[in-house]
Amino acid sequence: MIVARTRAELAAARAGLREPVGAVFTMGGLHDGHTALLRAARRECASVVATLFVNPTQFESERDATTYPRDEAADLRRFAAEAVDVAFAPPVHEVYAPGSAAQVGAGRLGRMLEGASRPGHFDGVATVVARLLELTRPACSYFGQKDWQQTRVVRQVVEDLALGVAVRVVGTVRDGQGLALGTRNVRLSDAGREAARVIHRALSAGADAWRRGERGADRLERTMRQEMGAEAGVTVDYAVARDPLSLDTLNPETAAVALLVAVWVEDVRLIDNLVLGEGLVDIDPAPLLAGPASATGGGQSLP
Ligand code: PAF
Repeated sequence: MIVARTRAELAAARAGLREPVGAVFTMGGLHDGHTALLRAARRECASVVATLFVNPTQFESERDATTYPRDEAADLRRFAAEAVDVAFAPPVHEVYAPGSAAQVGAGRLGRMLEGASRPGHFDGVATVVARLLELTRPACSYFGQKDWQQTRVVRQVVEDLALGVAVRVVGTVRDGQGLALGTRNVRLSDAGREAARVIHRALSAGADAWRRGERGADRLERTMRQEMGAEAGVTVDYAVARDPLSLDTLNPETAAVALLVAVWVEDVRLIDNLVLGEGLVDIDPAPLLAGPASATGGGQSLP
């Protein structure tokens, strides 16, 4: 595995890769959710580029950015174990050179839900993802369902800028009791982790109601809130039922729904979702995680 620290090193390493190239962008703090992304890329592409970059422009406060869990050595080991060909782990000035001005706005999609609670967050995500796509030039990129709104923003950016890269969504990876894996989970105490499991119970209650035929967003939302209301130590920011593509008000006529939740537990913000409907999540992570890391890329099944 080549570790590139500069744009020039990345370009040189990228030039030697077999096509198609798959890209996985991360901020480190890797867990099995990232492993699923890496394995999906490995399975579908001949080469894999993975990035390790804590993007300062997507944090609301410097404190949040500087305290974001980091262990570069462990993350690079995981990349290597997953047969990543090139790891791009640049310092900030390689992505945002001094005086760098170009920004990508996430627009309306970026101002709702997570964007309402974290103003500017998705503009930062849109900007860095556009830059990383330009730098890595993959045929296919992989993003986790847990950040559903992020996947919608990324698809919009790719379409708006005609970047010509496929965006593949890999389903959420959960622990044995339903808690979605997330880098920030390490900040939870055992009690906090236990309390946070209510999120998946709430989403499941909403999903059950949907499957029974409930199409009223208000009632779906009430079902999720009621479940979480019983859990002391969990403060709900939002629990909503939305159109999965536009993230707008749910149209009771459509055959799909995104149930999205954000809560605070012990000062840690946690998000999760369930998306019901055909063809919205591209790749099931379970079979990918069941086997060992594969050392060779396929490339045959790239959509
Ligand atoms: O999902 C993340 O880890 C980040 O938002 C991403 C896509 C790597 C951009 O910094």
